[in-house]
Amino acid sequence: MNLTHLSKDTLVTVVNGQLPGPTIEVTDGDSVIIHVVNKSPYNVTIHWHGVKQRLNCWADGVPMITQCPILPNHNFTYRFNVTGQERTLWWHAHVPGLRATLHGAFIIRPRHGAGSYPFPKPHREVPIIIGEWWEMDLAQVATDLSNNSLFDFNSASTINGKLGDLYNCSGVAEDGFVLEVEPGKTYLLRLINAALLMEYYFKIAGHRFTVVASDANYVNPYDTDVIAIAPGETVDALLVADARPGKYYMVAFPYQAPKPSIQGPEYITRGMIQYSSGNGAPVLLSTSNGTTGEEEGGGPSADVPIAPEMPDHNDMVTSLYFRGNLTSLRRPQLPTLVDERLFITLALGSVCRRGRVCERGSTNDESITVATLNNVSFELPAAAETPLLESHYYNTGGVDVLRELPARPPKVFNFTDRDLIPYGPKEANLEPTSKATLARRFRHGAAVDVVFQSTSLMQSESNPMHLHGHDMFVLAQGLGIYDAAKDVARYNLVNPPVKNTVLVPSLGWAAVRFVADNPGVWFMHCHFEFHLSMGMAAVFIVEDGPTADTSLHPPPADFQTCGHDESLMLQ
Ligand code: C2O
Repeated sequence: MNLTHLSKDTLVTVVNGQLPGPTIEVTDGDSVIIHVVNKSPYNVTIHWHGVKQRLNCWADGVPMITQCPILPNHNFTYRFNVTGQERTLWWHAHVPGLRATLHGAFIIRPRHGAGSYPFPKPHREVPIIIGEWWEMDLAQVATDLSNNSLFDFNSASTINGKLGDLYNCSGVAEDGFVLEVEPGKTYLLRLINAALLMEYYFKIAGHRFTVVASDANYVNPYDTDVIAIAPGETVDALLVADARPGKYYMVAFPYQAPKPSIQGPEYITRGMIQYSSGNGAPVLLSTSNGTTGEEEGGGPSADVPIAPEMPDHNDMVTSLYFRGNLTSLRRPQLPTLVDERLFITLALGSVCRRGRVCERGSTNDESITVATLNNVSFELPAAAETPLLESHYYNTGGVDVLRELPARPPKVFNFTDRDLIPYGPKEANLEPTSKATLARRFRHGAAVDVVFQSTSLMQSESNPMHLHGHDMFVLAQGLGIYDAAKDVARYNLVNPPVKNTVLVPSLGWAAVRFVADNPGVWFMHCHFEFHLSMGMAAVFIVEDGPTADTSLHPPPADFQTCGHDESLMLQ
C-alpha cells in the first residue's frame, strides 16, 4: 500500500493494510493457525519471534532454514501451539529489509486469566512498537546491504507507526501516538523494538515505570524512569497515571557508542500521554504556571506538553545498568553442569568478490565487508535447494556439508583495541574470511554456555543476539574483554533474566546459558538487520531426544517443497 508520511508518498509492503501490522492476541495453551497470503512482489516468510515452537520447528518461519520462501501470489499456513509462555512477543517477516514494515505485536495472555498476573491487573494494556520509517525501497536496502553498496540511507524513528512532532517536513509537524490515561489508573505498556538498526531509550516525562517482564519472561518488579530496548527485545512495564493531569511527551531516543555516523533529530520520535476523565474529555489544569514545556519539573501548562530529559546518545552505561538490574521473578531451571562452552567473537571481515583471491588490505572493488561469528560469515543455502530443516529431518545429507561453527575464534587478538576500528583506509585491518552455511550441532538436552565477545571491528556497534526456539539465561554482561578467571565469579546463577535476545554491549561481552532441548534447526543471529544481512548468523541444530515427546514432529501434511507449485497459486 501507499503510505504518506508528510513529505513523500512511499510504496510499502504491509499486512492487512496496517503499519504496524495487526496485533495477534492468544492465551497460553492456545493452538494458533495463521494463513499468510502473499500478495506482495517479494518472497516472504513470517517468524514468530520468541515463540518456542516446541518440537515444531516447521513453523519457525526462516527462509531456507525451516521452510521455502512464500513466493508472490502463493500462500502458506503456520500452525503452532503456545505453551508455557506469557506476555509480549512479536512477529515479523524474516526476509532482509522487509521486516521494517512487516511486523506486529504477539500478545500471550496467561492461561488462568488476570488472576494469575504476578502484579495487579492494569486498567489497560497498550502495545508500544518502536520502529523506523524508511523512504527508500526496503528490498533495495537489503540488496545494497548484502553487496556493500548502501552508502547513503535515511530512516526516521516511529512509535506505533507515527513519526511524531519532531519530524518536521515541509514545515508541518506530524501528530505522534497519543495514549489517553485516566488519573490514578495503571497501564501496562508492551514495548517492542521492531527497528532494523537502533537501540532506544524510552521515557515519559514526569512518570516512572515498573518493569515486570522482558521477552515474555517475568522479572522482579524493577522501578526506573528509563527503559533501554534493543532490536528484537520486548519490555512490559507498568505506568501509573499519578502525575498532575496534563500532557507529557513519551520519547524514543536512539543511542549508540561513539562512532562517526551519528544521528540527526529525525531519529528521535515522540508521542504523548494525555490525561482524560475517561469519557474522552481532556483533564487539564486551568492555568499555566509558566513552564516552557521543554524542561522536566514543575507542573504542565494547559497545552504545552512536558518533555523528558533523555540520556546522552552515546551513553552506554545507562543501558548496561538497566539490563544489569533485571532478574528473573520465577526461579529459573538453570542447569549447574555445563556440557559445552563456546566463545564467539562478533566482528567484521572481508571476502573477495566473485571468488577472486584478494590479500589483506586489498581495495574496495575487490573485497566486500561481511559480518562474522568466529571469523566466518553466514550465507543461506541457495533458494533452489532444500531447507536445512527438511534435509535434517529426512536425513538427506543436506546438512552434512555445513561448516562447523568453531568453539573459539581462530585467533586471539586484542578484541577491544580501538586502533583496529576499520574506518576508511583502516579497512585494511579487516581479517580475510570466507562465507559458509555455518552450523553447530548439539546433543539433545546439552547445557551450553556461550560467551559473545564484541570486538572493535564492529565499529562500536553493539549486537542484540537472538536465538530461535530457546530462551537463554543471561548470566552476566560486561565491558572490555571477557576474562573467565574473574568474570565467572560475576555470574548470576540464582535468578538470571531469561531472554530470547541478549544485548552484547559494544566493546564488551555477554555470557548466556541455554539448554538445547528443542530438536530442530534454529537460527541464531544478530537482530541488527545490517549485521544479519552481512552474515552475522549461524544455525544451531539440536538432535532428537530418546522419546517421541522429545523429538521433532513430522512436517505438517501440507508442508510445501521449494519452487513454483501451481496448486498453491492464488486465484
Ligand atoms: Cu526476530 Cu530471526 O528473528
